[in-house]
Amino acid sequence: MKETVTEILFPKEAIGRRVRELAGQISRDYEGREPLIVGILNGAFIFMADLIRALNVPCRVDFVRLSSYGAGSVSSGEILIGKDLEMPILGCDVLIVEDIVDTGLTLSRLVEILRKRQPASLKVCALLDKQERRRVPFTADYVGFFIPDRFVVGYGLDYNEKFRFLPDVCVLETSSEREDI
Ligand code: PRP
Repeated sequence: MKETVTEILFPKEAIGRRVRELAGQISRDYEGREPLIVGILNGAFIFMADLIRALNVPCRVDFVRLSSYGAGSVSSGEILIGKDLEMPILGCDVLIVEDIVDTGLTLSRLVEILRKRQPASLKVCALLDKQERRRVPFTADYVGFFIPDRFVVGYGLDYNEKFRFLPDVCVLETSSEREDI
């Protein structure tokens, strides 16, 4: 397959502005508290790093690893738990940070798992939301940008582990190398 970045959907400046807005809103909502920010590896790592540095409240961080995608861009629907949290969350204010909500399978499953551990509160912040792709109902509490059903990479998002390093969120198109096939 040939992969081509065809368009910048959100340049780094626009992402930076939106991340600061989200951080402001989150800081107001969590005033006087110290949330535990839970990043979903790998995609959330850049967004989470920028978001927590823009918060005006103290926080702690932890990570989980789940996956819903096989190789490529099509979700398998199966959720695998790779790495669990290292801290107990009983009685904690937990904010899950995710790069993108697509089918909703990953976050709905993670929320279901973490609710059973009885946190004081549990919310979700996603940078991107592709609402038209939902297979299960899921609404994030904080969303950076609602986007159309296009495959996006950059700012932590990948295609086969590539393109995460790009500073902008970009549209990726894939095509067969041989267009006559
Ligand atoms: C991607 C993305 C979300 C999930 C969203 O993760 O980072 O975690 O898929 O899809 P869903 O709403 O359809 O469940 P991926 O499994 O590709 O792993 P990654 O974070 O390491 O890129």
